[in-house]
Amino acid sequence: MVKRLMVLVLALCLAVAFFGCEGEQGPEGPAGPQGEAGPMGDQGPQGEDGKDVPEYTYGGNSERCVGCHESAVEGWMHTHHAEAYEDLVAEGNETNLYCVKCHVTGFDAEVAYGDTEVTTPGPDMHGFDDYWPPETAEDSMRVEMLAGVGCESCHGPMGTTIYDHQPMVSYETHYNDGHPTTVCAKCHSQAGDDGTTEMEEWELSGHNALKDREGNEVMTIEEWREEHFTEGSCGACHSSEGFIARWDPDYAGWEPHERNLIGCVTCHDPHEANNIHHLRSVDDMTVNYDAEVVADEGTMTGYGSGQICAQCHQGRRDTDNVVGQIENGYAHFGPHHSNQGDMFLGIGSYEIEGYEYEREAVHQNLERGCVDCHMTMRGHGDPAGWKGGHDFYPALEACQGCHSGTDTFDVGGGQTEIEELMEQLITAIGVNADDLGDGDITTPEQRMAGYAYAFVHDDGSHGAHNPVYARSLLENAIDFISTYNAARDAGEIANK
Ligand code: HEC
Ligand code: HEC
Ligand code: HEC
Ligand code: HEC
Ligand code: HEC
Ligand code: HEC
Ligand code: HEC
Ligand code: HEC
Ligand code: HEC
Repeated sequence: MVKRLMVLVLALCLAVAFFGCEGEQGPEGPAGPQGEAGPMGDQGPQGEDGKDVPEYTYGGNSERCVGCHESAVEGWMHTHHAEAYEDLVAEGNETNLYCVKCHVTGFDAEVAYGDTEVTTPGPDMHGFDDYWPPETAEDSMRVEMLAGVGCESCHGPMGTTIYDHQPMVSYETHYNDGHPTTVCAKCHSQAGDDGTTEMEEWELSGHNALKDREGNEVMTIEEWREEHFTEGSCGACHSSEGFIARWDPDYAGWEPHERNLIGCVTCHDPHEANNIHHLRSVDDMTVNYDAEVVADEGTMTGYGSGQICAQCHQGRRDTDNVVGQIENGYAHFGPHHSNQGDMFLGIGSYEIEGYEYEREAVHQNLERGCVDCHMTMRGHGDPAGWKGGHDFYPALEACQGCHSGTDTFDVGGGQTEIEELMEQLITAIGVNADDLGDGDITTPEQRMAGYAYAFVHDDGSHGAHNPVYARSLLENAIDFISTYNAARDAGEIANK
């Protein structure tokens, strides 16, 4: 009973403070009592009708969770979600229910732009809209507690089942129990002038393995789970849960029971704001293949939000593996398909002894590396319209600041030049590209030169990531294999 009174008094104080004064409410949501949550009776007034609908808890945002999930609550408090309502208040938009609906918890009514009253109520679930406009002290208290994007915005209403609670949890947030709905999409769906939302952009991205770039279905989630390298070491980059377990210390040692696509919460952590845009990890990436000459240069660091891309998009192969490939051949010849981080840094390919390799390219000076070219964003209110950059493909407008007026990625014919060099190299090696790793077909010398081909090919940017290193790799390999061939043809080396 004492506890209940404390909750009520605290809540009342907050409600008065909040509605009594203009503007600033501190960044922290209602703190709530520490320790065990009180028994159900302590939740304050329940719906009298006893309808069988899920209800938002009394103390909605976090108060009902903090006793048992303290760290989640504390982390969430520093996210923009916790401040979502205050940001409307700061702009004087807190009575525009069209805005409010996405900036609070449990708003399920239909509203049009400019509405200040709920015209088409949703089910009475004790969400924000059920108490708007606040008339009684009870209303004010409820509204205050449900202001901002709280726990139950994503985990669903838990009012009557808190001790036996069955929160909605989704590590992937796109396919929820097989339904193409997501906890993020219902709010992160404001279309910009070009008609796209973060969610729609993601749909067409390479991270949605279920669809191609045109939006055609290519497989089902079940097929993906079976075929798409989601388990074991592969899962750390090929599944949401694998990545979270690998990079988020809160999940160290976690054995997930299901695997999902790389989606919103793979990259963003709703319970922590340690990194910019609440990214889950922006740790350094170190290239595995550690050529001795450049041991110090093989770490990608300091690129801010761009770091997260390189945690998956890197070549993977270690020195023993690469040396083994050259000596004996290998079915998966070359780096892993994802060597973009290595290429960007200008390191990580097999390098032929006696040759100089150029590594430094101006693109390395981009502040956020990958993100600067691949996630061009334009904010709300930008005359060119909103763009969230979540299809993860490079955009021409990212190049135009430096390569003024370019209407192609093939700036100055740079990509064409790289493709021509690749063609020259494979011709000089004298085998099909697919056969490069076959130990019965190729010699170690062919593989020494061929690794450069595989490395530039798998990077997929046709040199755009690091035109300098790509050119250097190919030119050196062409020189090496041509010199070797000439010597062999002149009889200086035994012909195999
Ligand atoms: C009385 C303590 C208690 C309260 C209060 C409580 N929880 Fe929980 N919650 C638990 C326990 C215990 C688990 C299970 C933990 C585990 O499996 O490791 C859990 C699990 C969860 C999970 C994970 C479920 C899953 O399937 O993996 C979520 C999400 C969650 N709680 C959210 C909330 C939210 C949001 C609130 C507040 C509205 C809340 N909880 C209030 C005790 C509580
Ligand atoms: C469909 C849901 C939705 C509606 C409707 C909506 N917002 Fe938002 N708002 C969001 C989301 C999601 C974000 C965060 C993502 C982002 O930055 O675009 C956001 C961010 C914001 C921000 C902080 C970021 C920034 O751009 O400065 C402000 C302020 C804001 N909205 C105000 C408003 C106002 C004012 C309205 C009404 C005219 C409104 N919102 C309507 C979902 C919505
Ligand atoms: C913006 C949506 C969102 C908000 C807000 C949110 N969560 Fe979560 N929560 C998720 C998602 C998605 C997951 C699963 C992936 C993950 O861990 O990020 C999750 C996972 C959890 C888990 C762990 C489940 C497990 O055992 O793996 C707990 C506990 C939890 N949330 C509690 C809370 C609490 C308490 C709050 C409020 C302070 C909260 N969440 C706010 C979306 C959210
Ligand atoms: C360090 C992160 C990482 C690990 C670990 C990893 N991959 Fe990948 N893999 C990627 C990335 C990123 C791509 C996409 C590269 C691209 O499209 O340019 C990819 C692409 C692929 C592709 C080609 C594209 C496709 O989807 O068909 C295959 C096949 C593949 N990986 C298999 C595996 C297998 C098998 C394992 C485990 C032995 C594995 N990967 C481990 C990051 C990784
Ligand atoms: C592969 C990783 C990745 C995935 C998946 C991802 N994001 Fe992001 N997101 C990022 C990065 C990186 C940034 C920061 C870009 C920058 O620095 O400007 C970002 C920025 C944002 C922002 C802030 C900028 C803005 O758009 O207003 C929001 C909001 C956001 N993401 C929401 C989402 C949602 C919703 C989804 C799921 C549809 C999602 N993200 C999926 C990596 C990801
Ligand atoms: C109830 C609506 C709602 C839901 C559900 C929701 N968001 Fe948000 N989100 C917002 C609003 C509103 C903001 C802007 C808050 C502000 O700054 O005022 C925001 C901000 C963000 C930001 C910070 C962007 C920045 O500028 O750094 C990220 C990241 C984000 N959301 C990701 C997610 C992810 C991931 C999910 C799903 C797990 C999700 N959100 C679910 C409404 C929502
Ligand atoms: C969790 C690991 C992971 C992260 C983080 C990640 N990616 Fe990916 N990415 C992948 C995988 C795996 C694929 C291939 C998916 C498939 O085919 O199944 C991929 C595919 C892509 C593709 C499509 C490639 C193609 O061949 O069409 C692009 C572009 C891309 N990612 C860019 C990015 C960017 C930019 C970032 C950072 C904002 C990023 N990725 C972050 C794992 C990741
Ligand atoms: C200078 C701008 C720029 C930077 C920086 C950049 N990219 Fe790219 N990226 C491109 C261009 C251009 C392409 C090729 C697009 C085309 O030709 O269609 C590309 C292609 C890709 C592809 C697709 C490959 C394929 O097979 O289709 C992936 C994946 C990728 N980049 C990931 C990354 C990652 C990860 C980083 C950071 C380590 C990065 N990019 C940095 C511009 C850039
Ligand atoms: C910060 C400025 C900057 C941005 C942004 C930028 N580049 Fe570059 N890029 C350069 C400079 C300077 C060079 C020449 C020097 C070098 O290669 O390092 C170059 C070289 C190139 C080359 C090789 C051309 C040649 O003649 O060798 C290609 C191809 C290229 N960039 C493509 C792109 C693409 C595609 C984008 C956008 C996705 C982009 N760049 C964004 C500055 C930039």
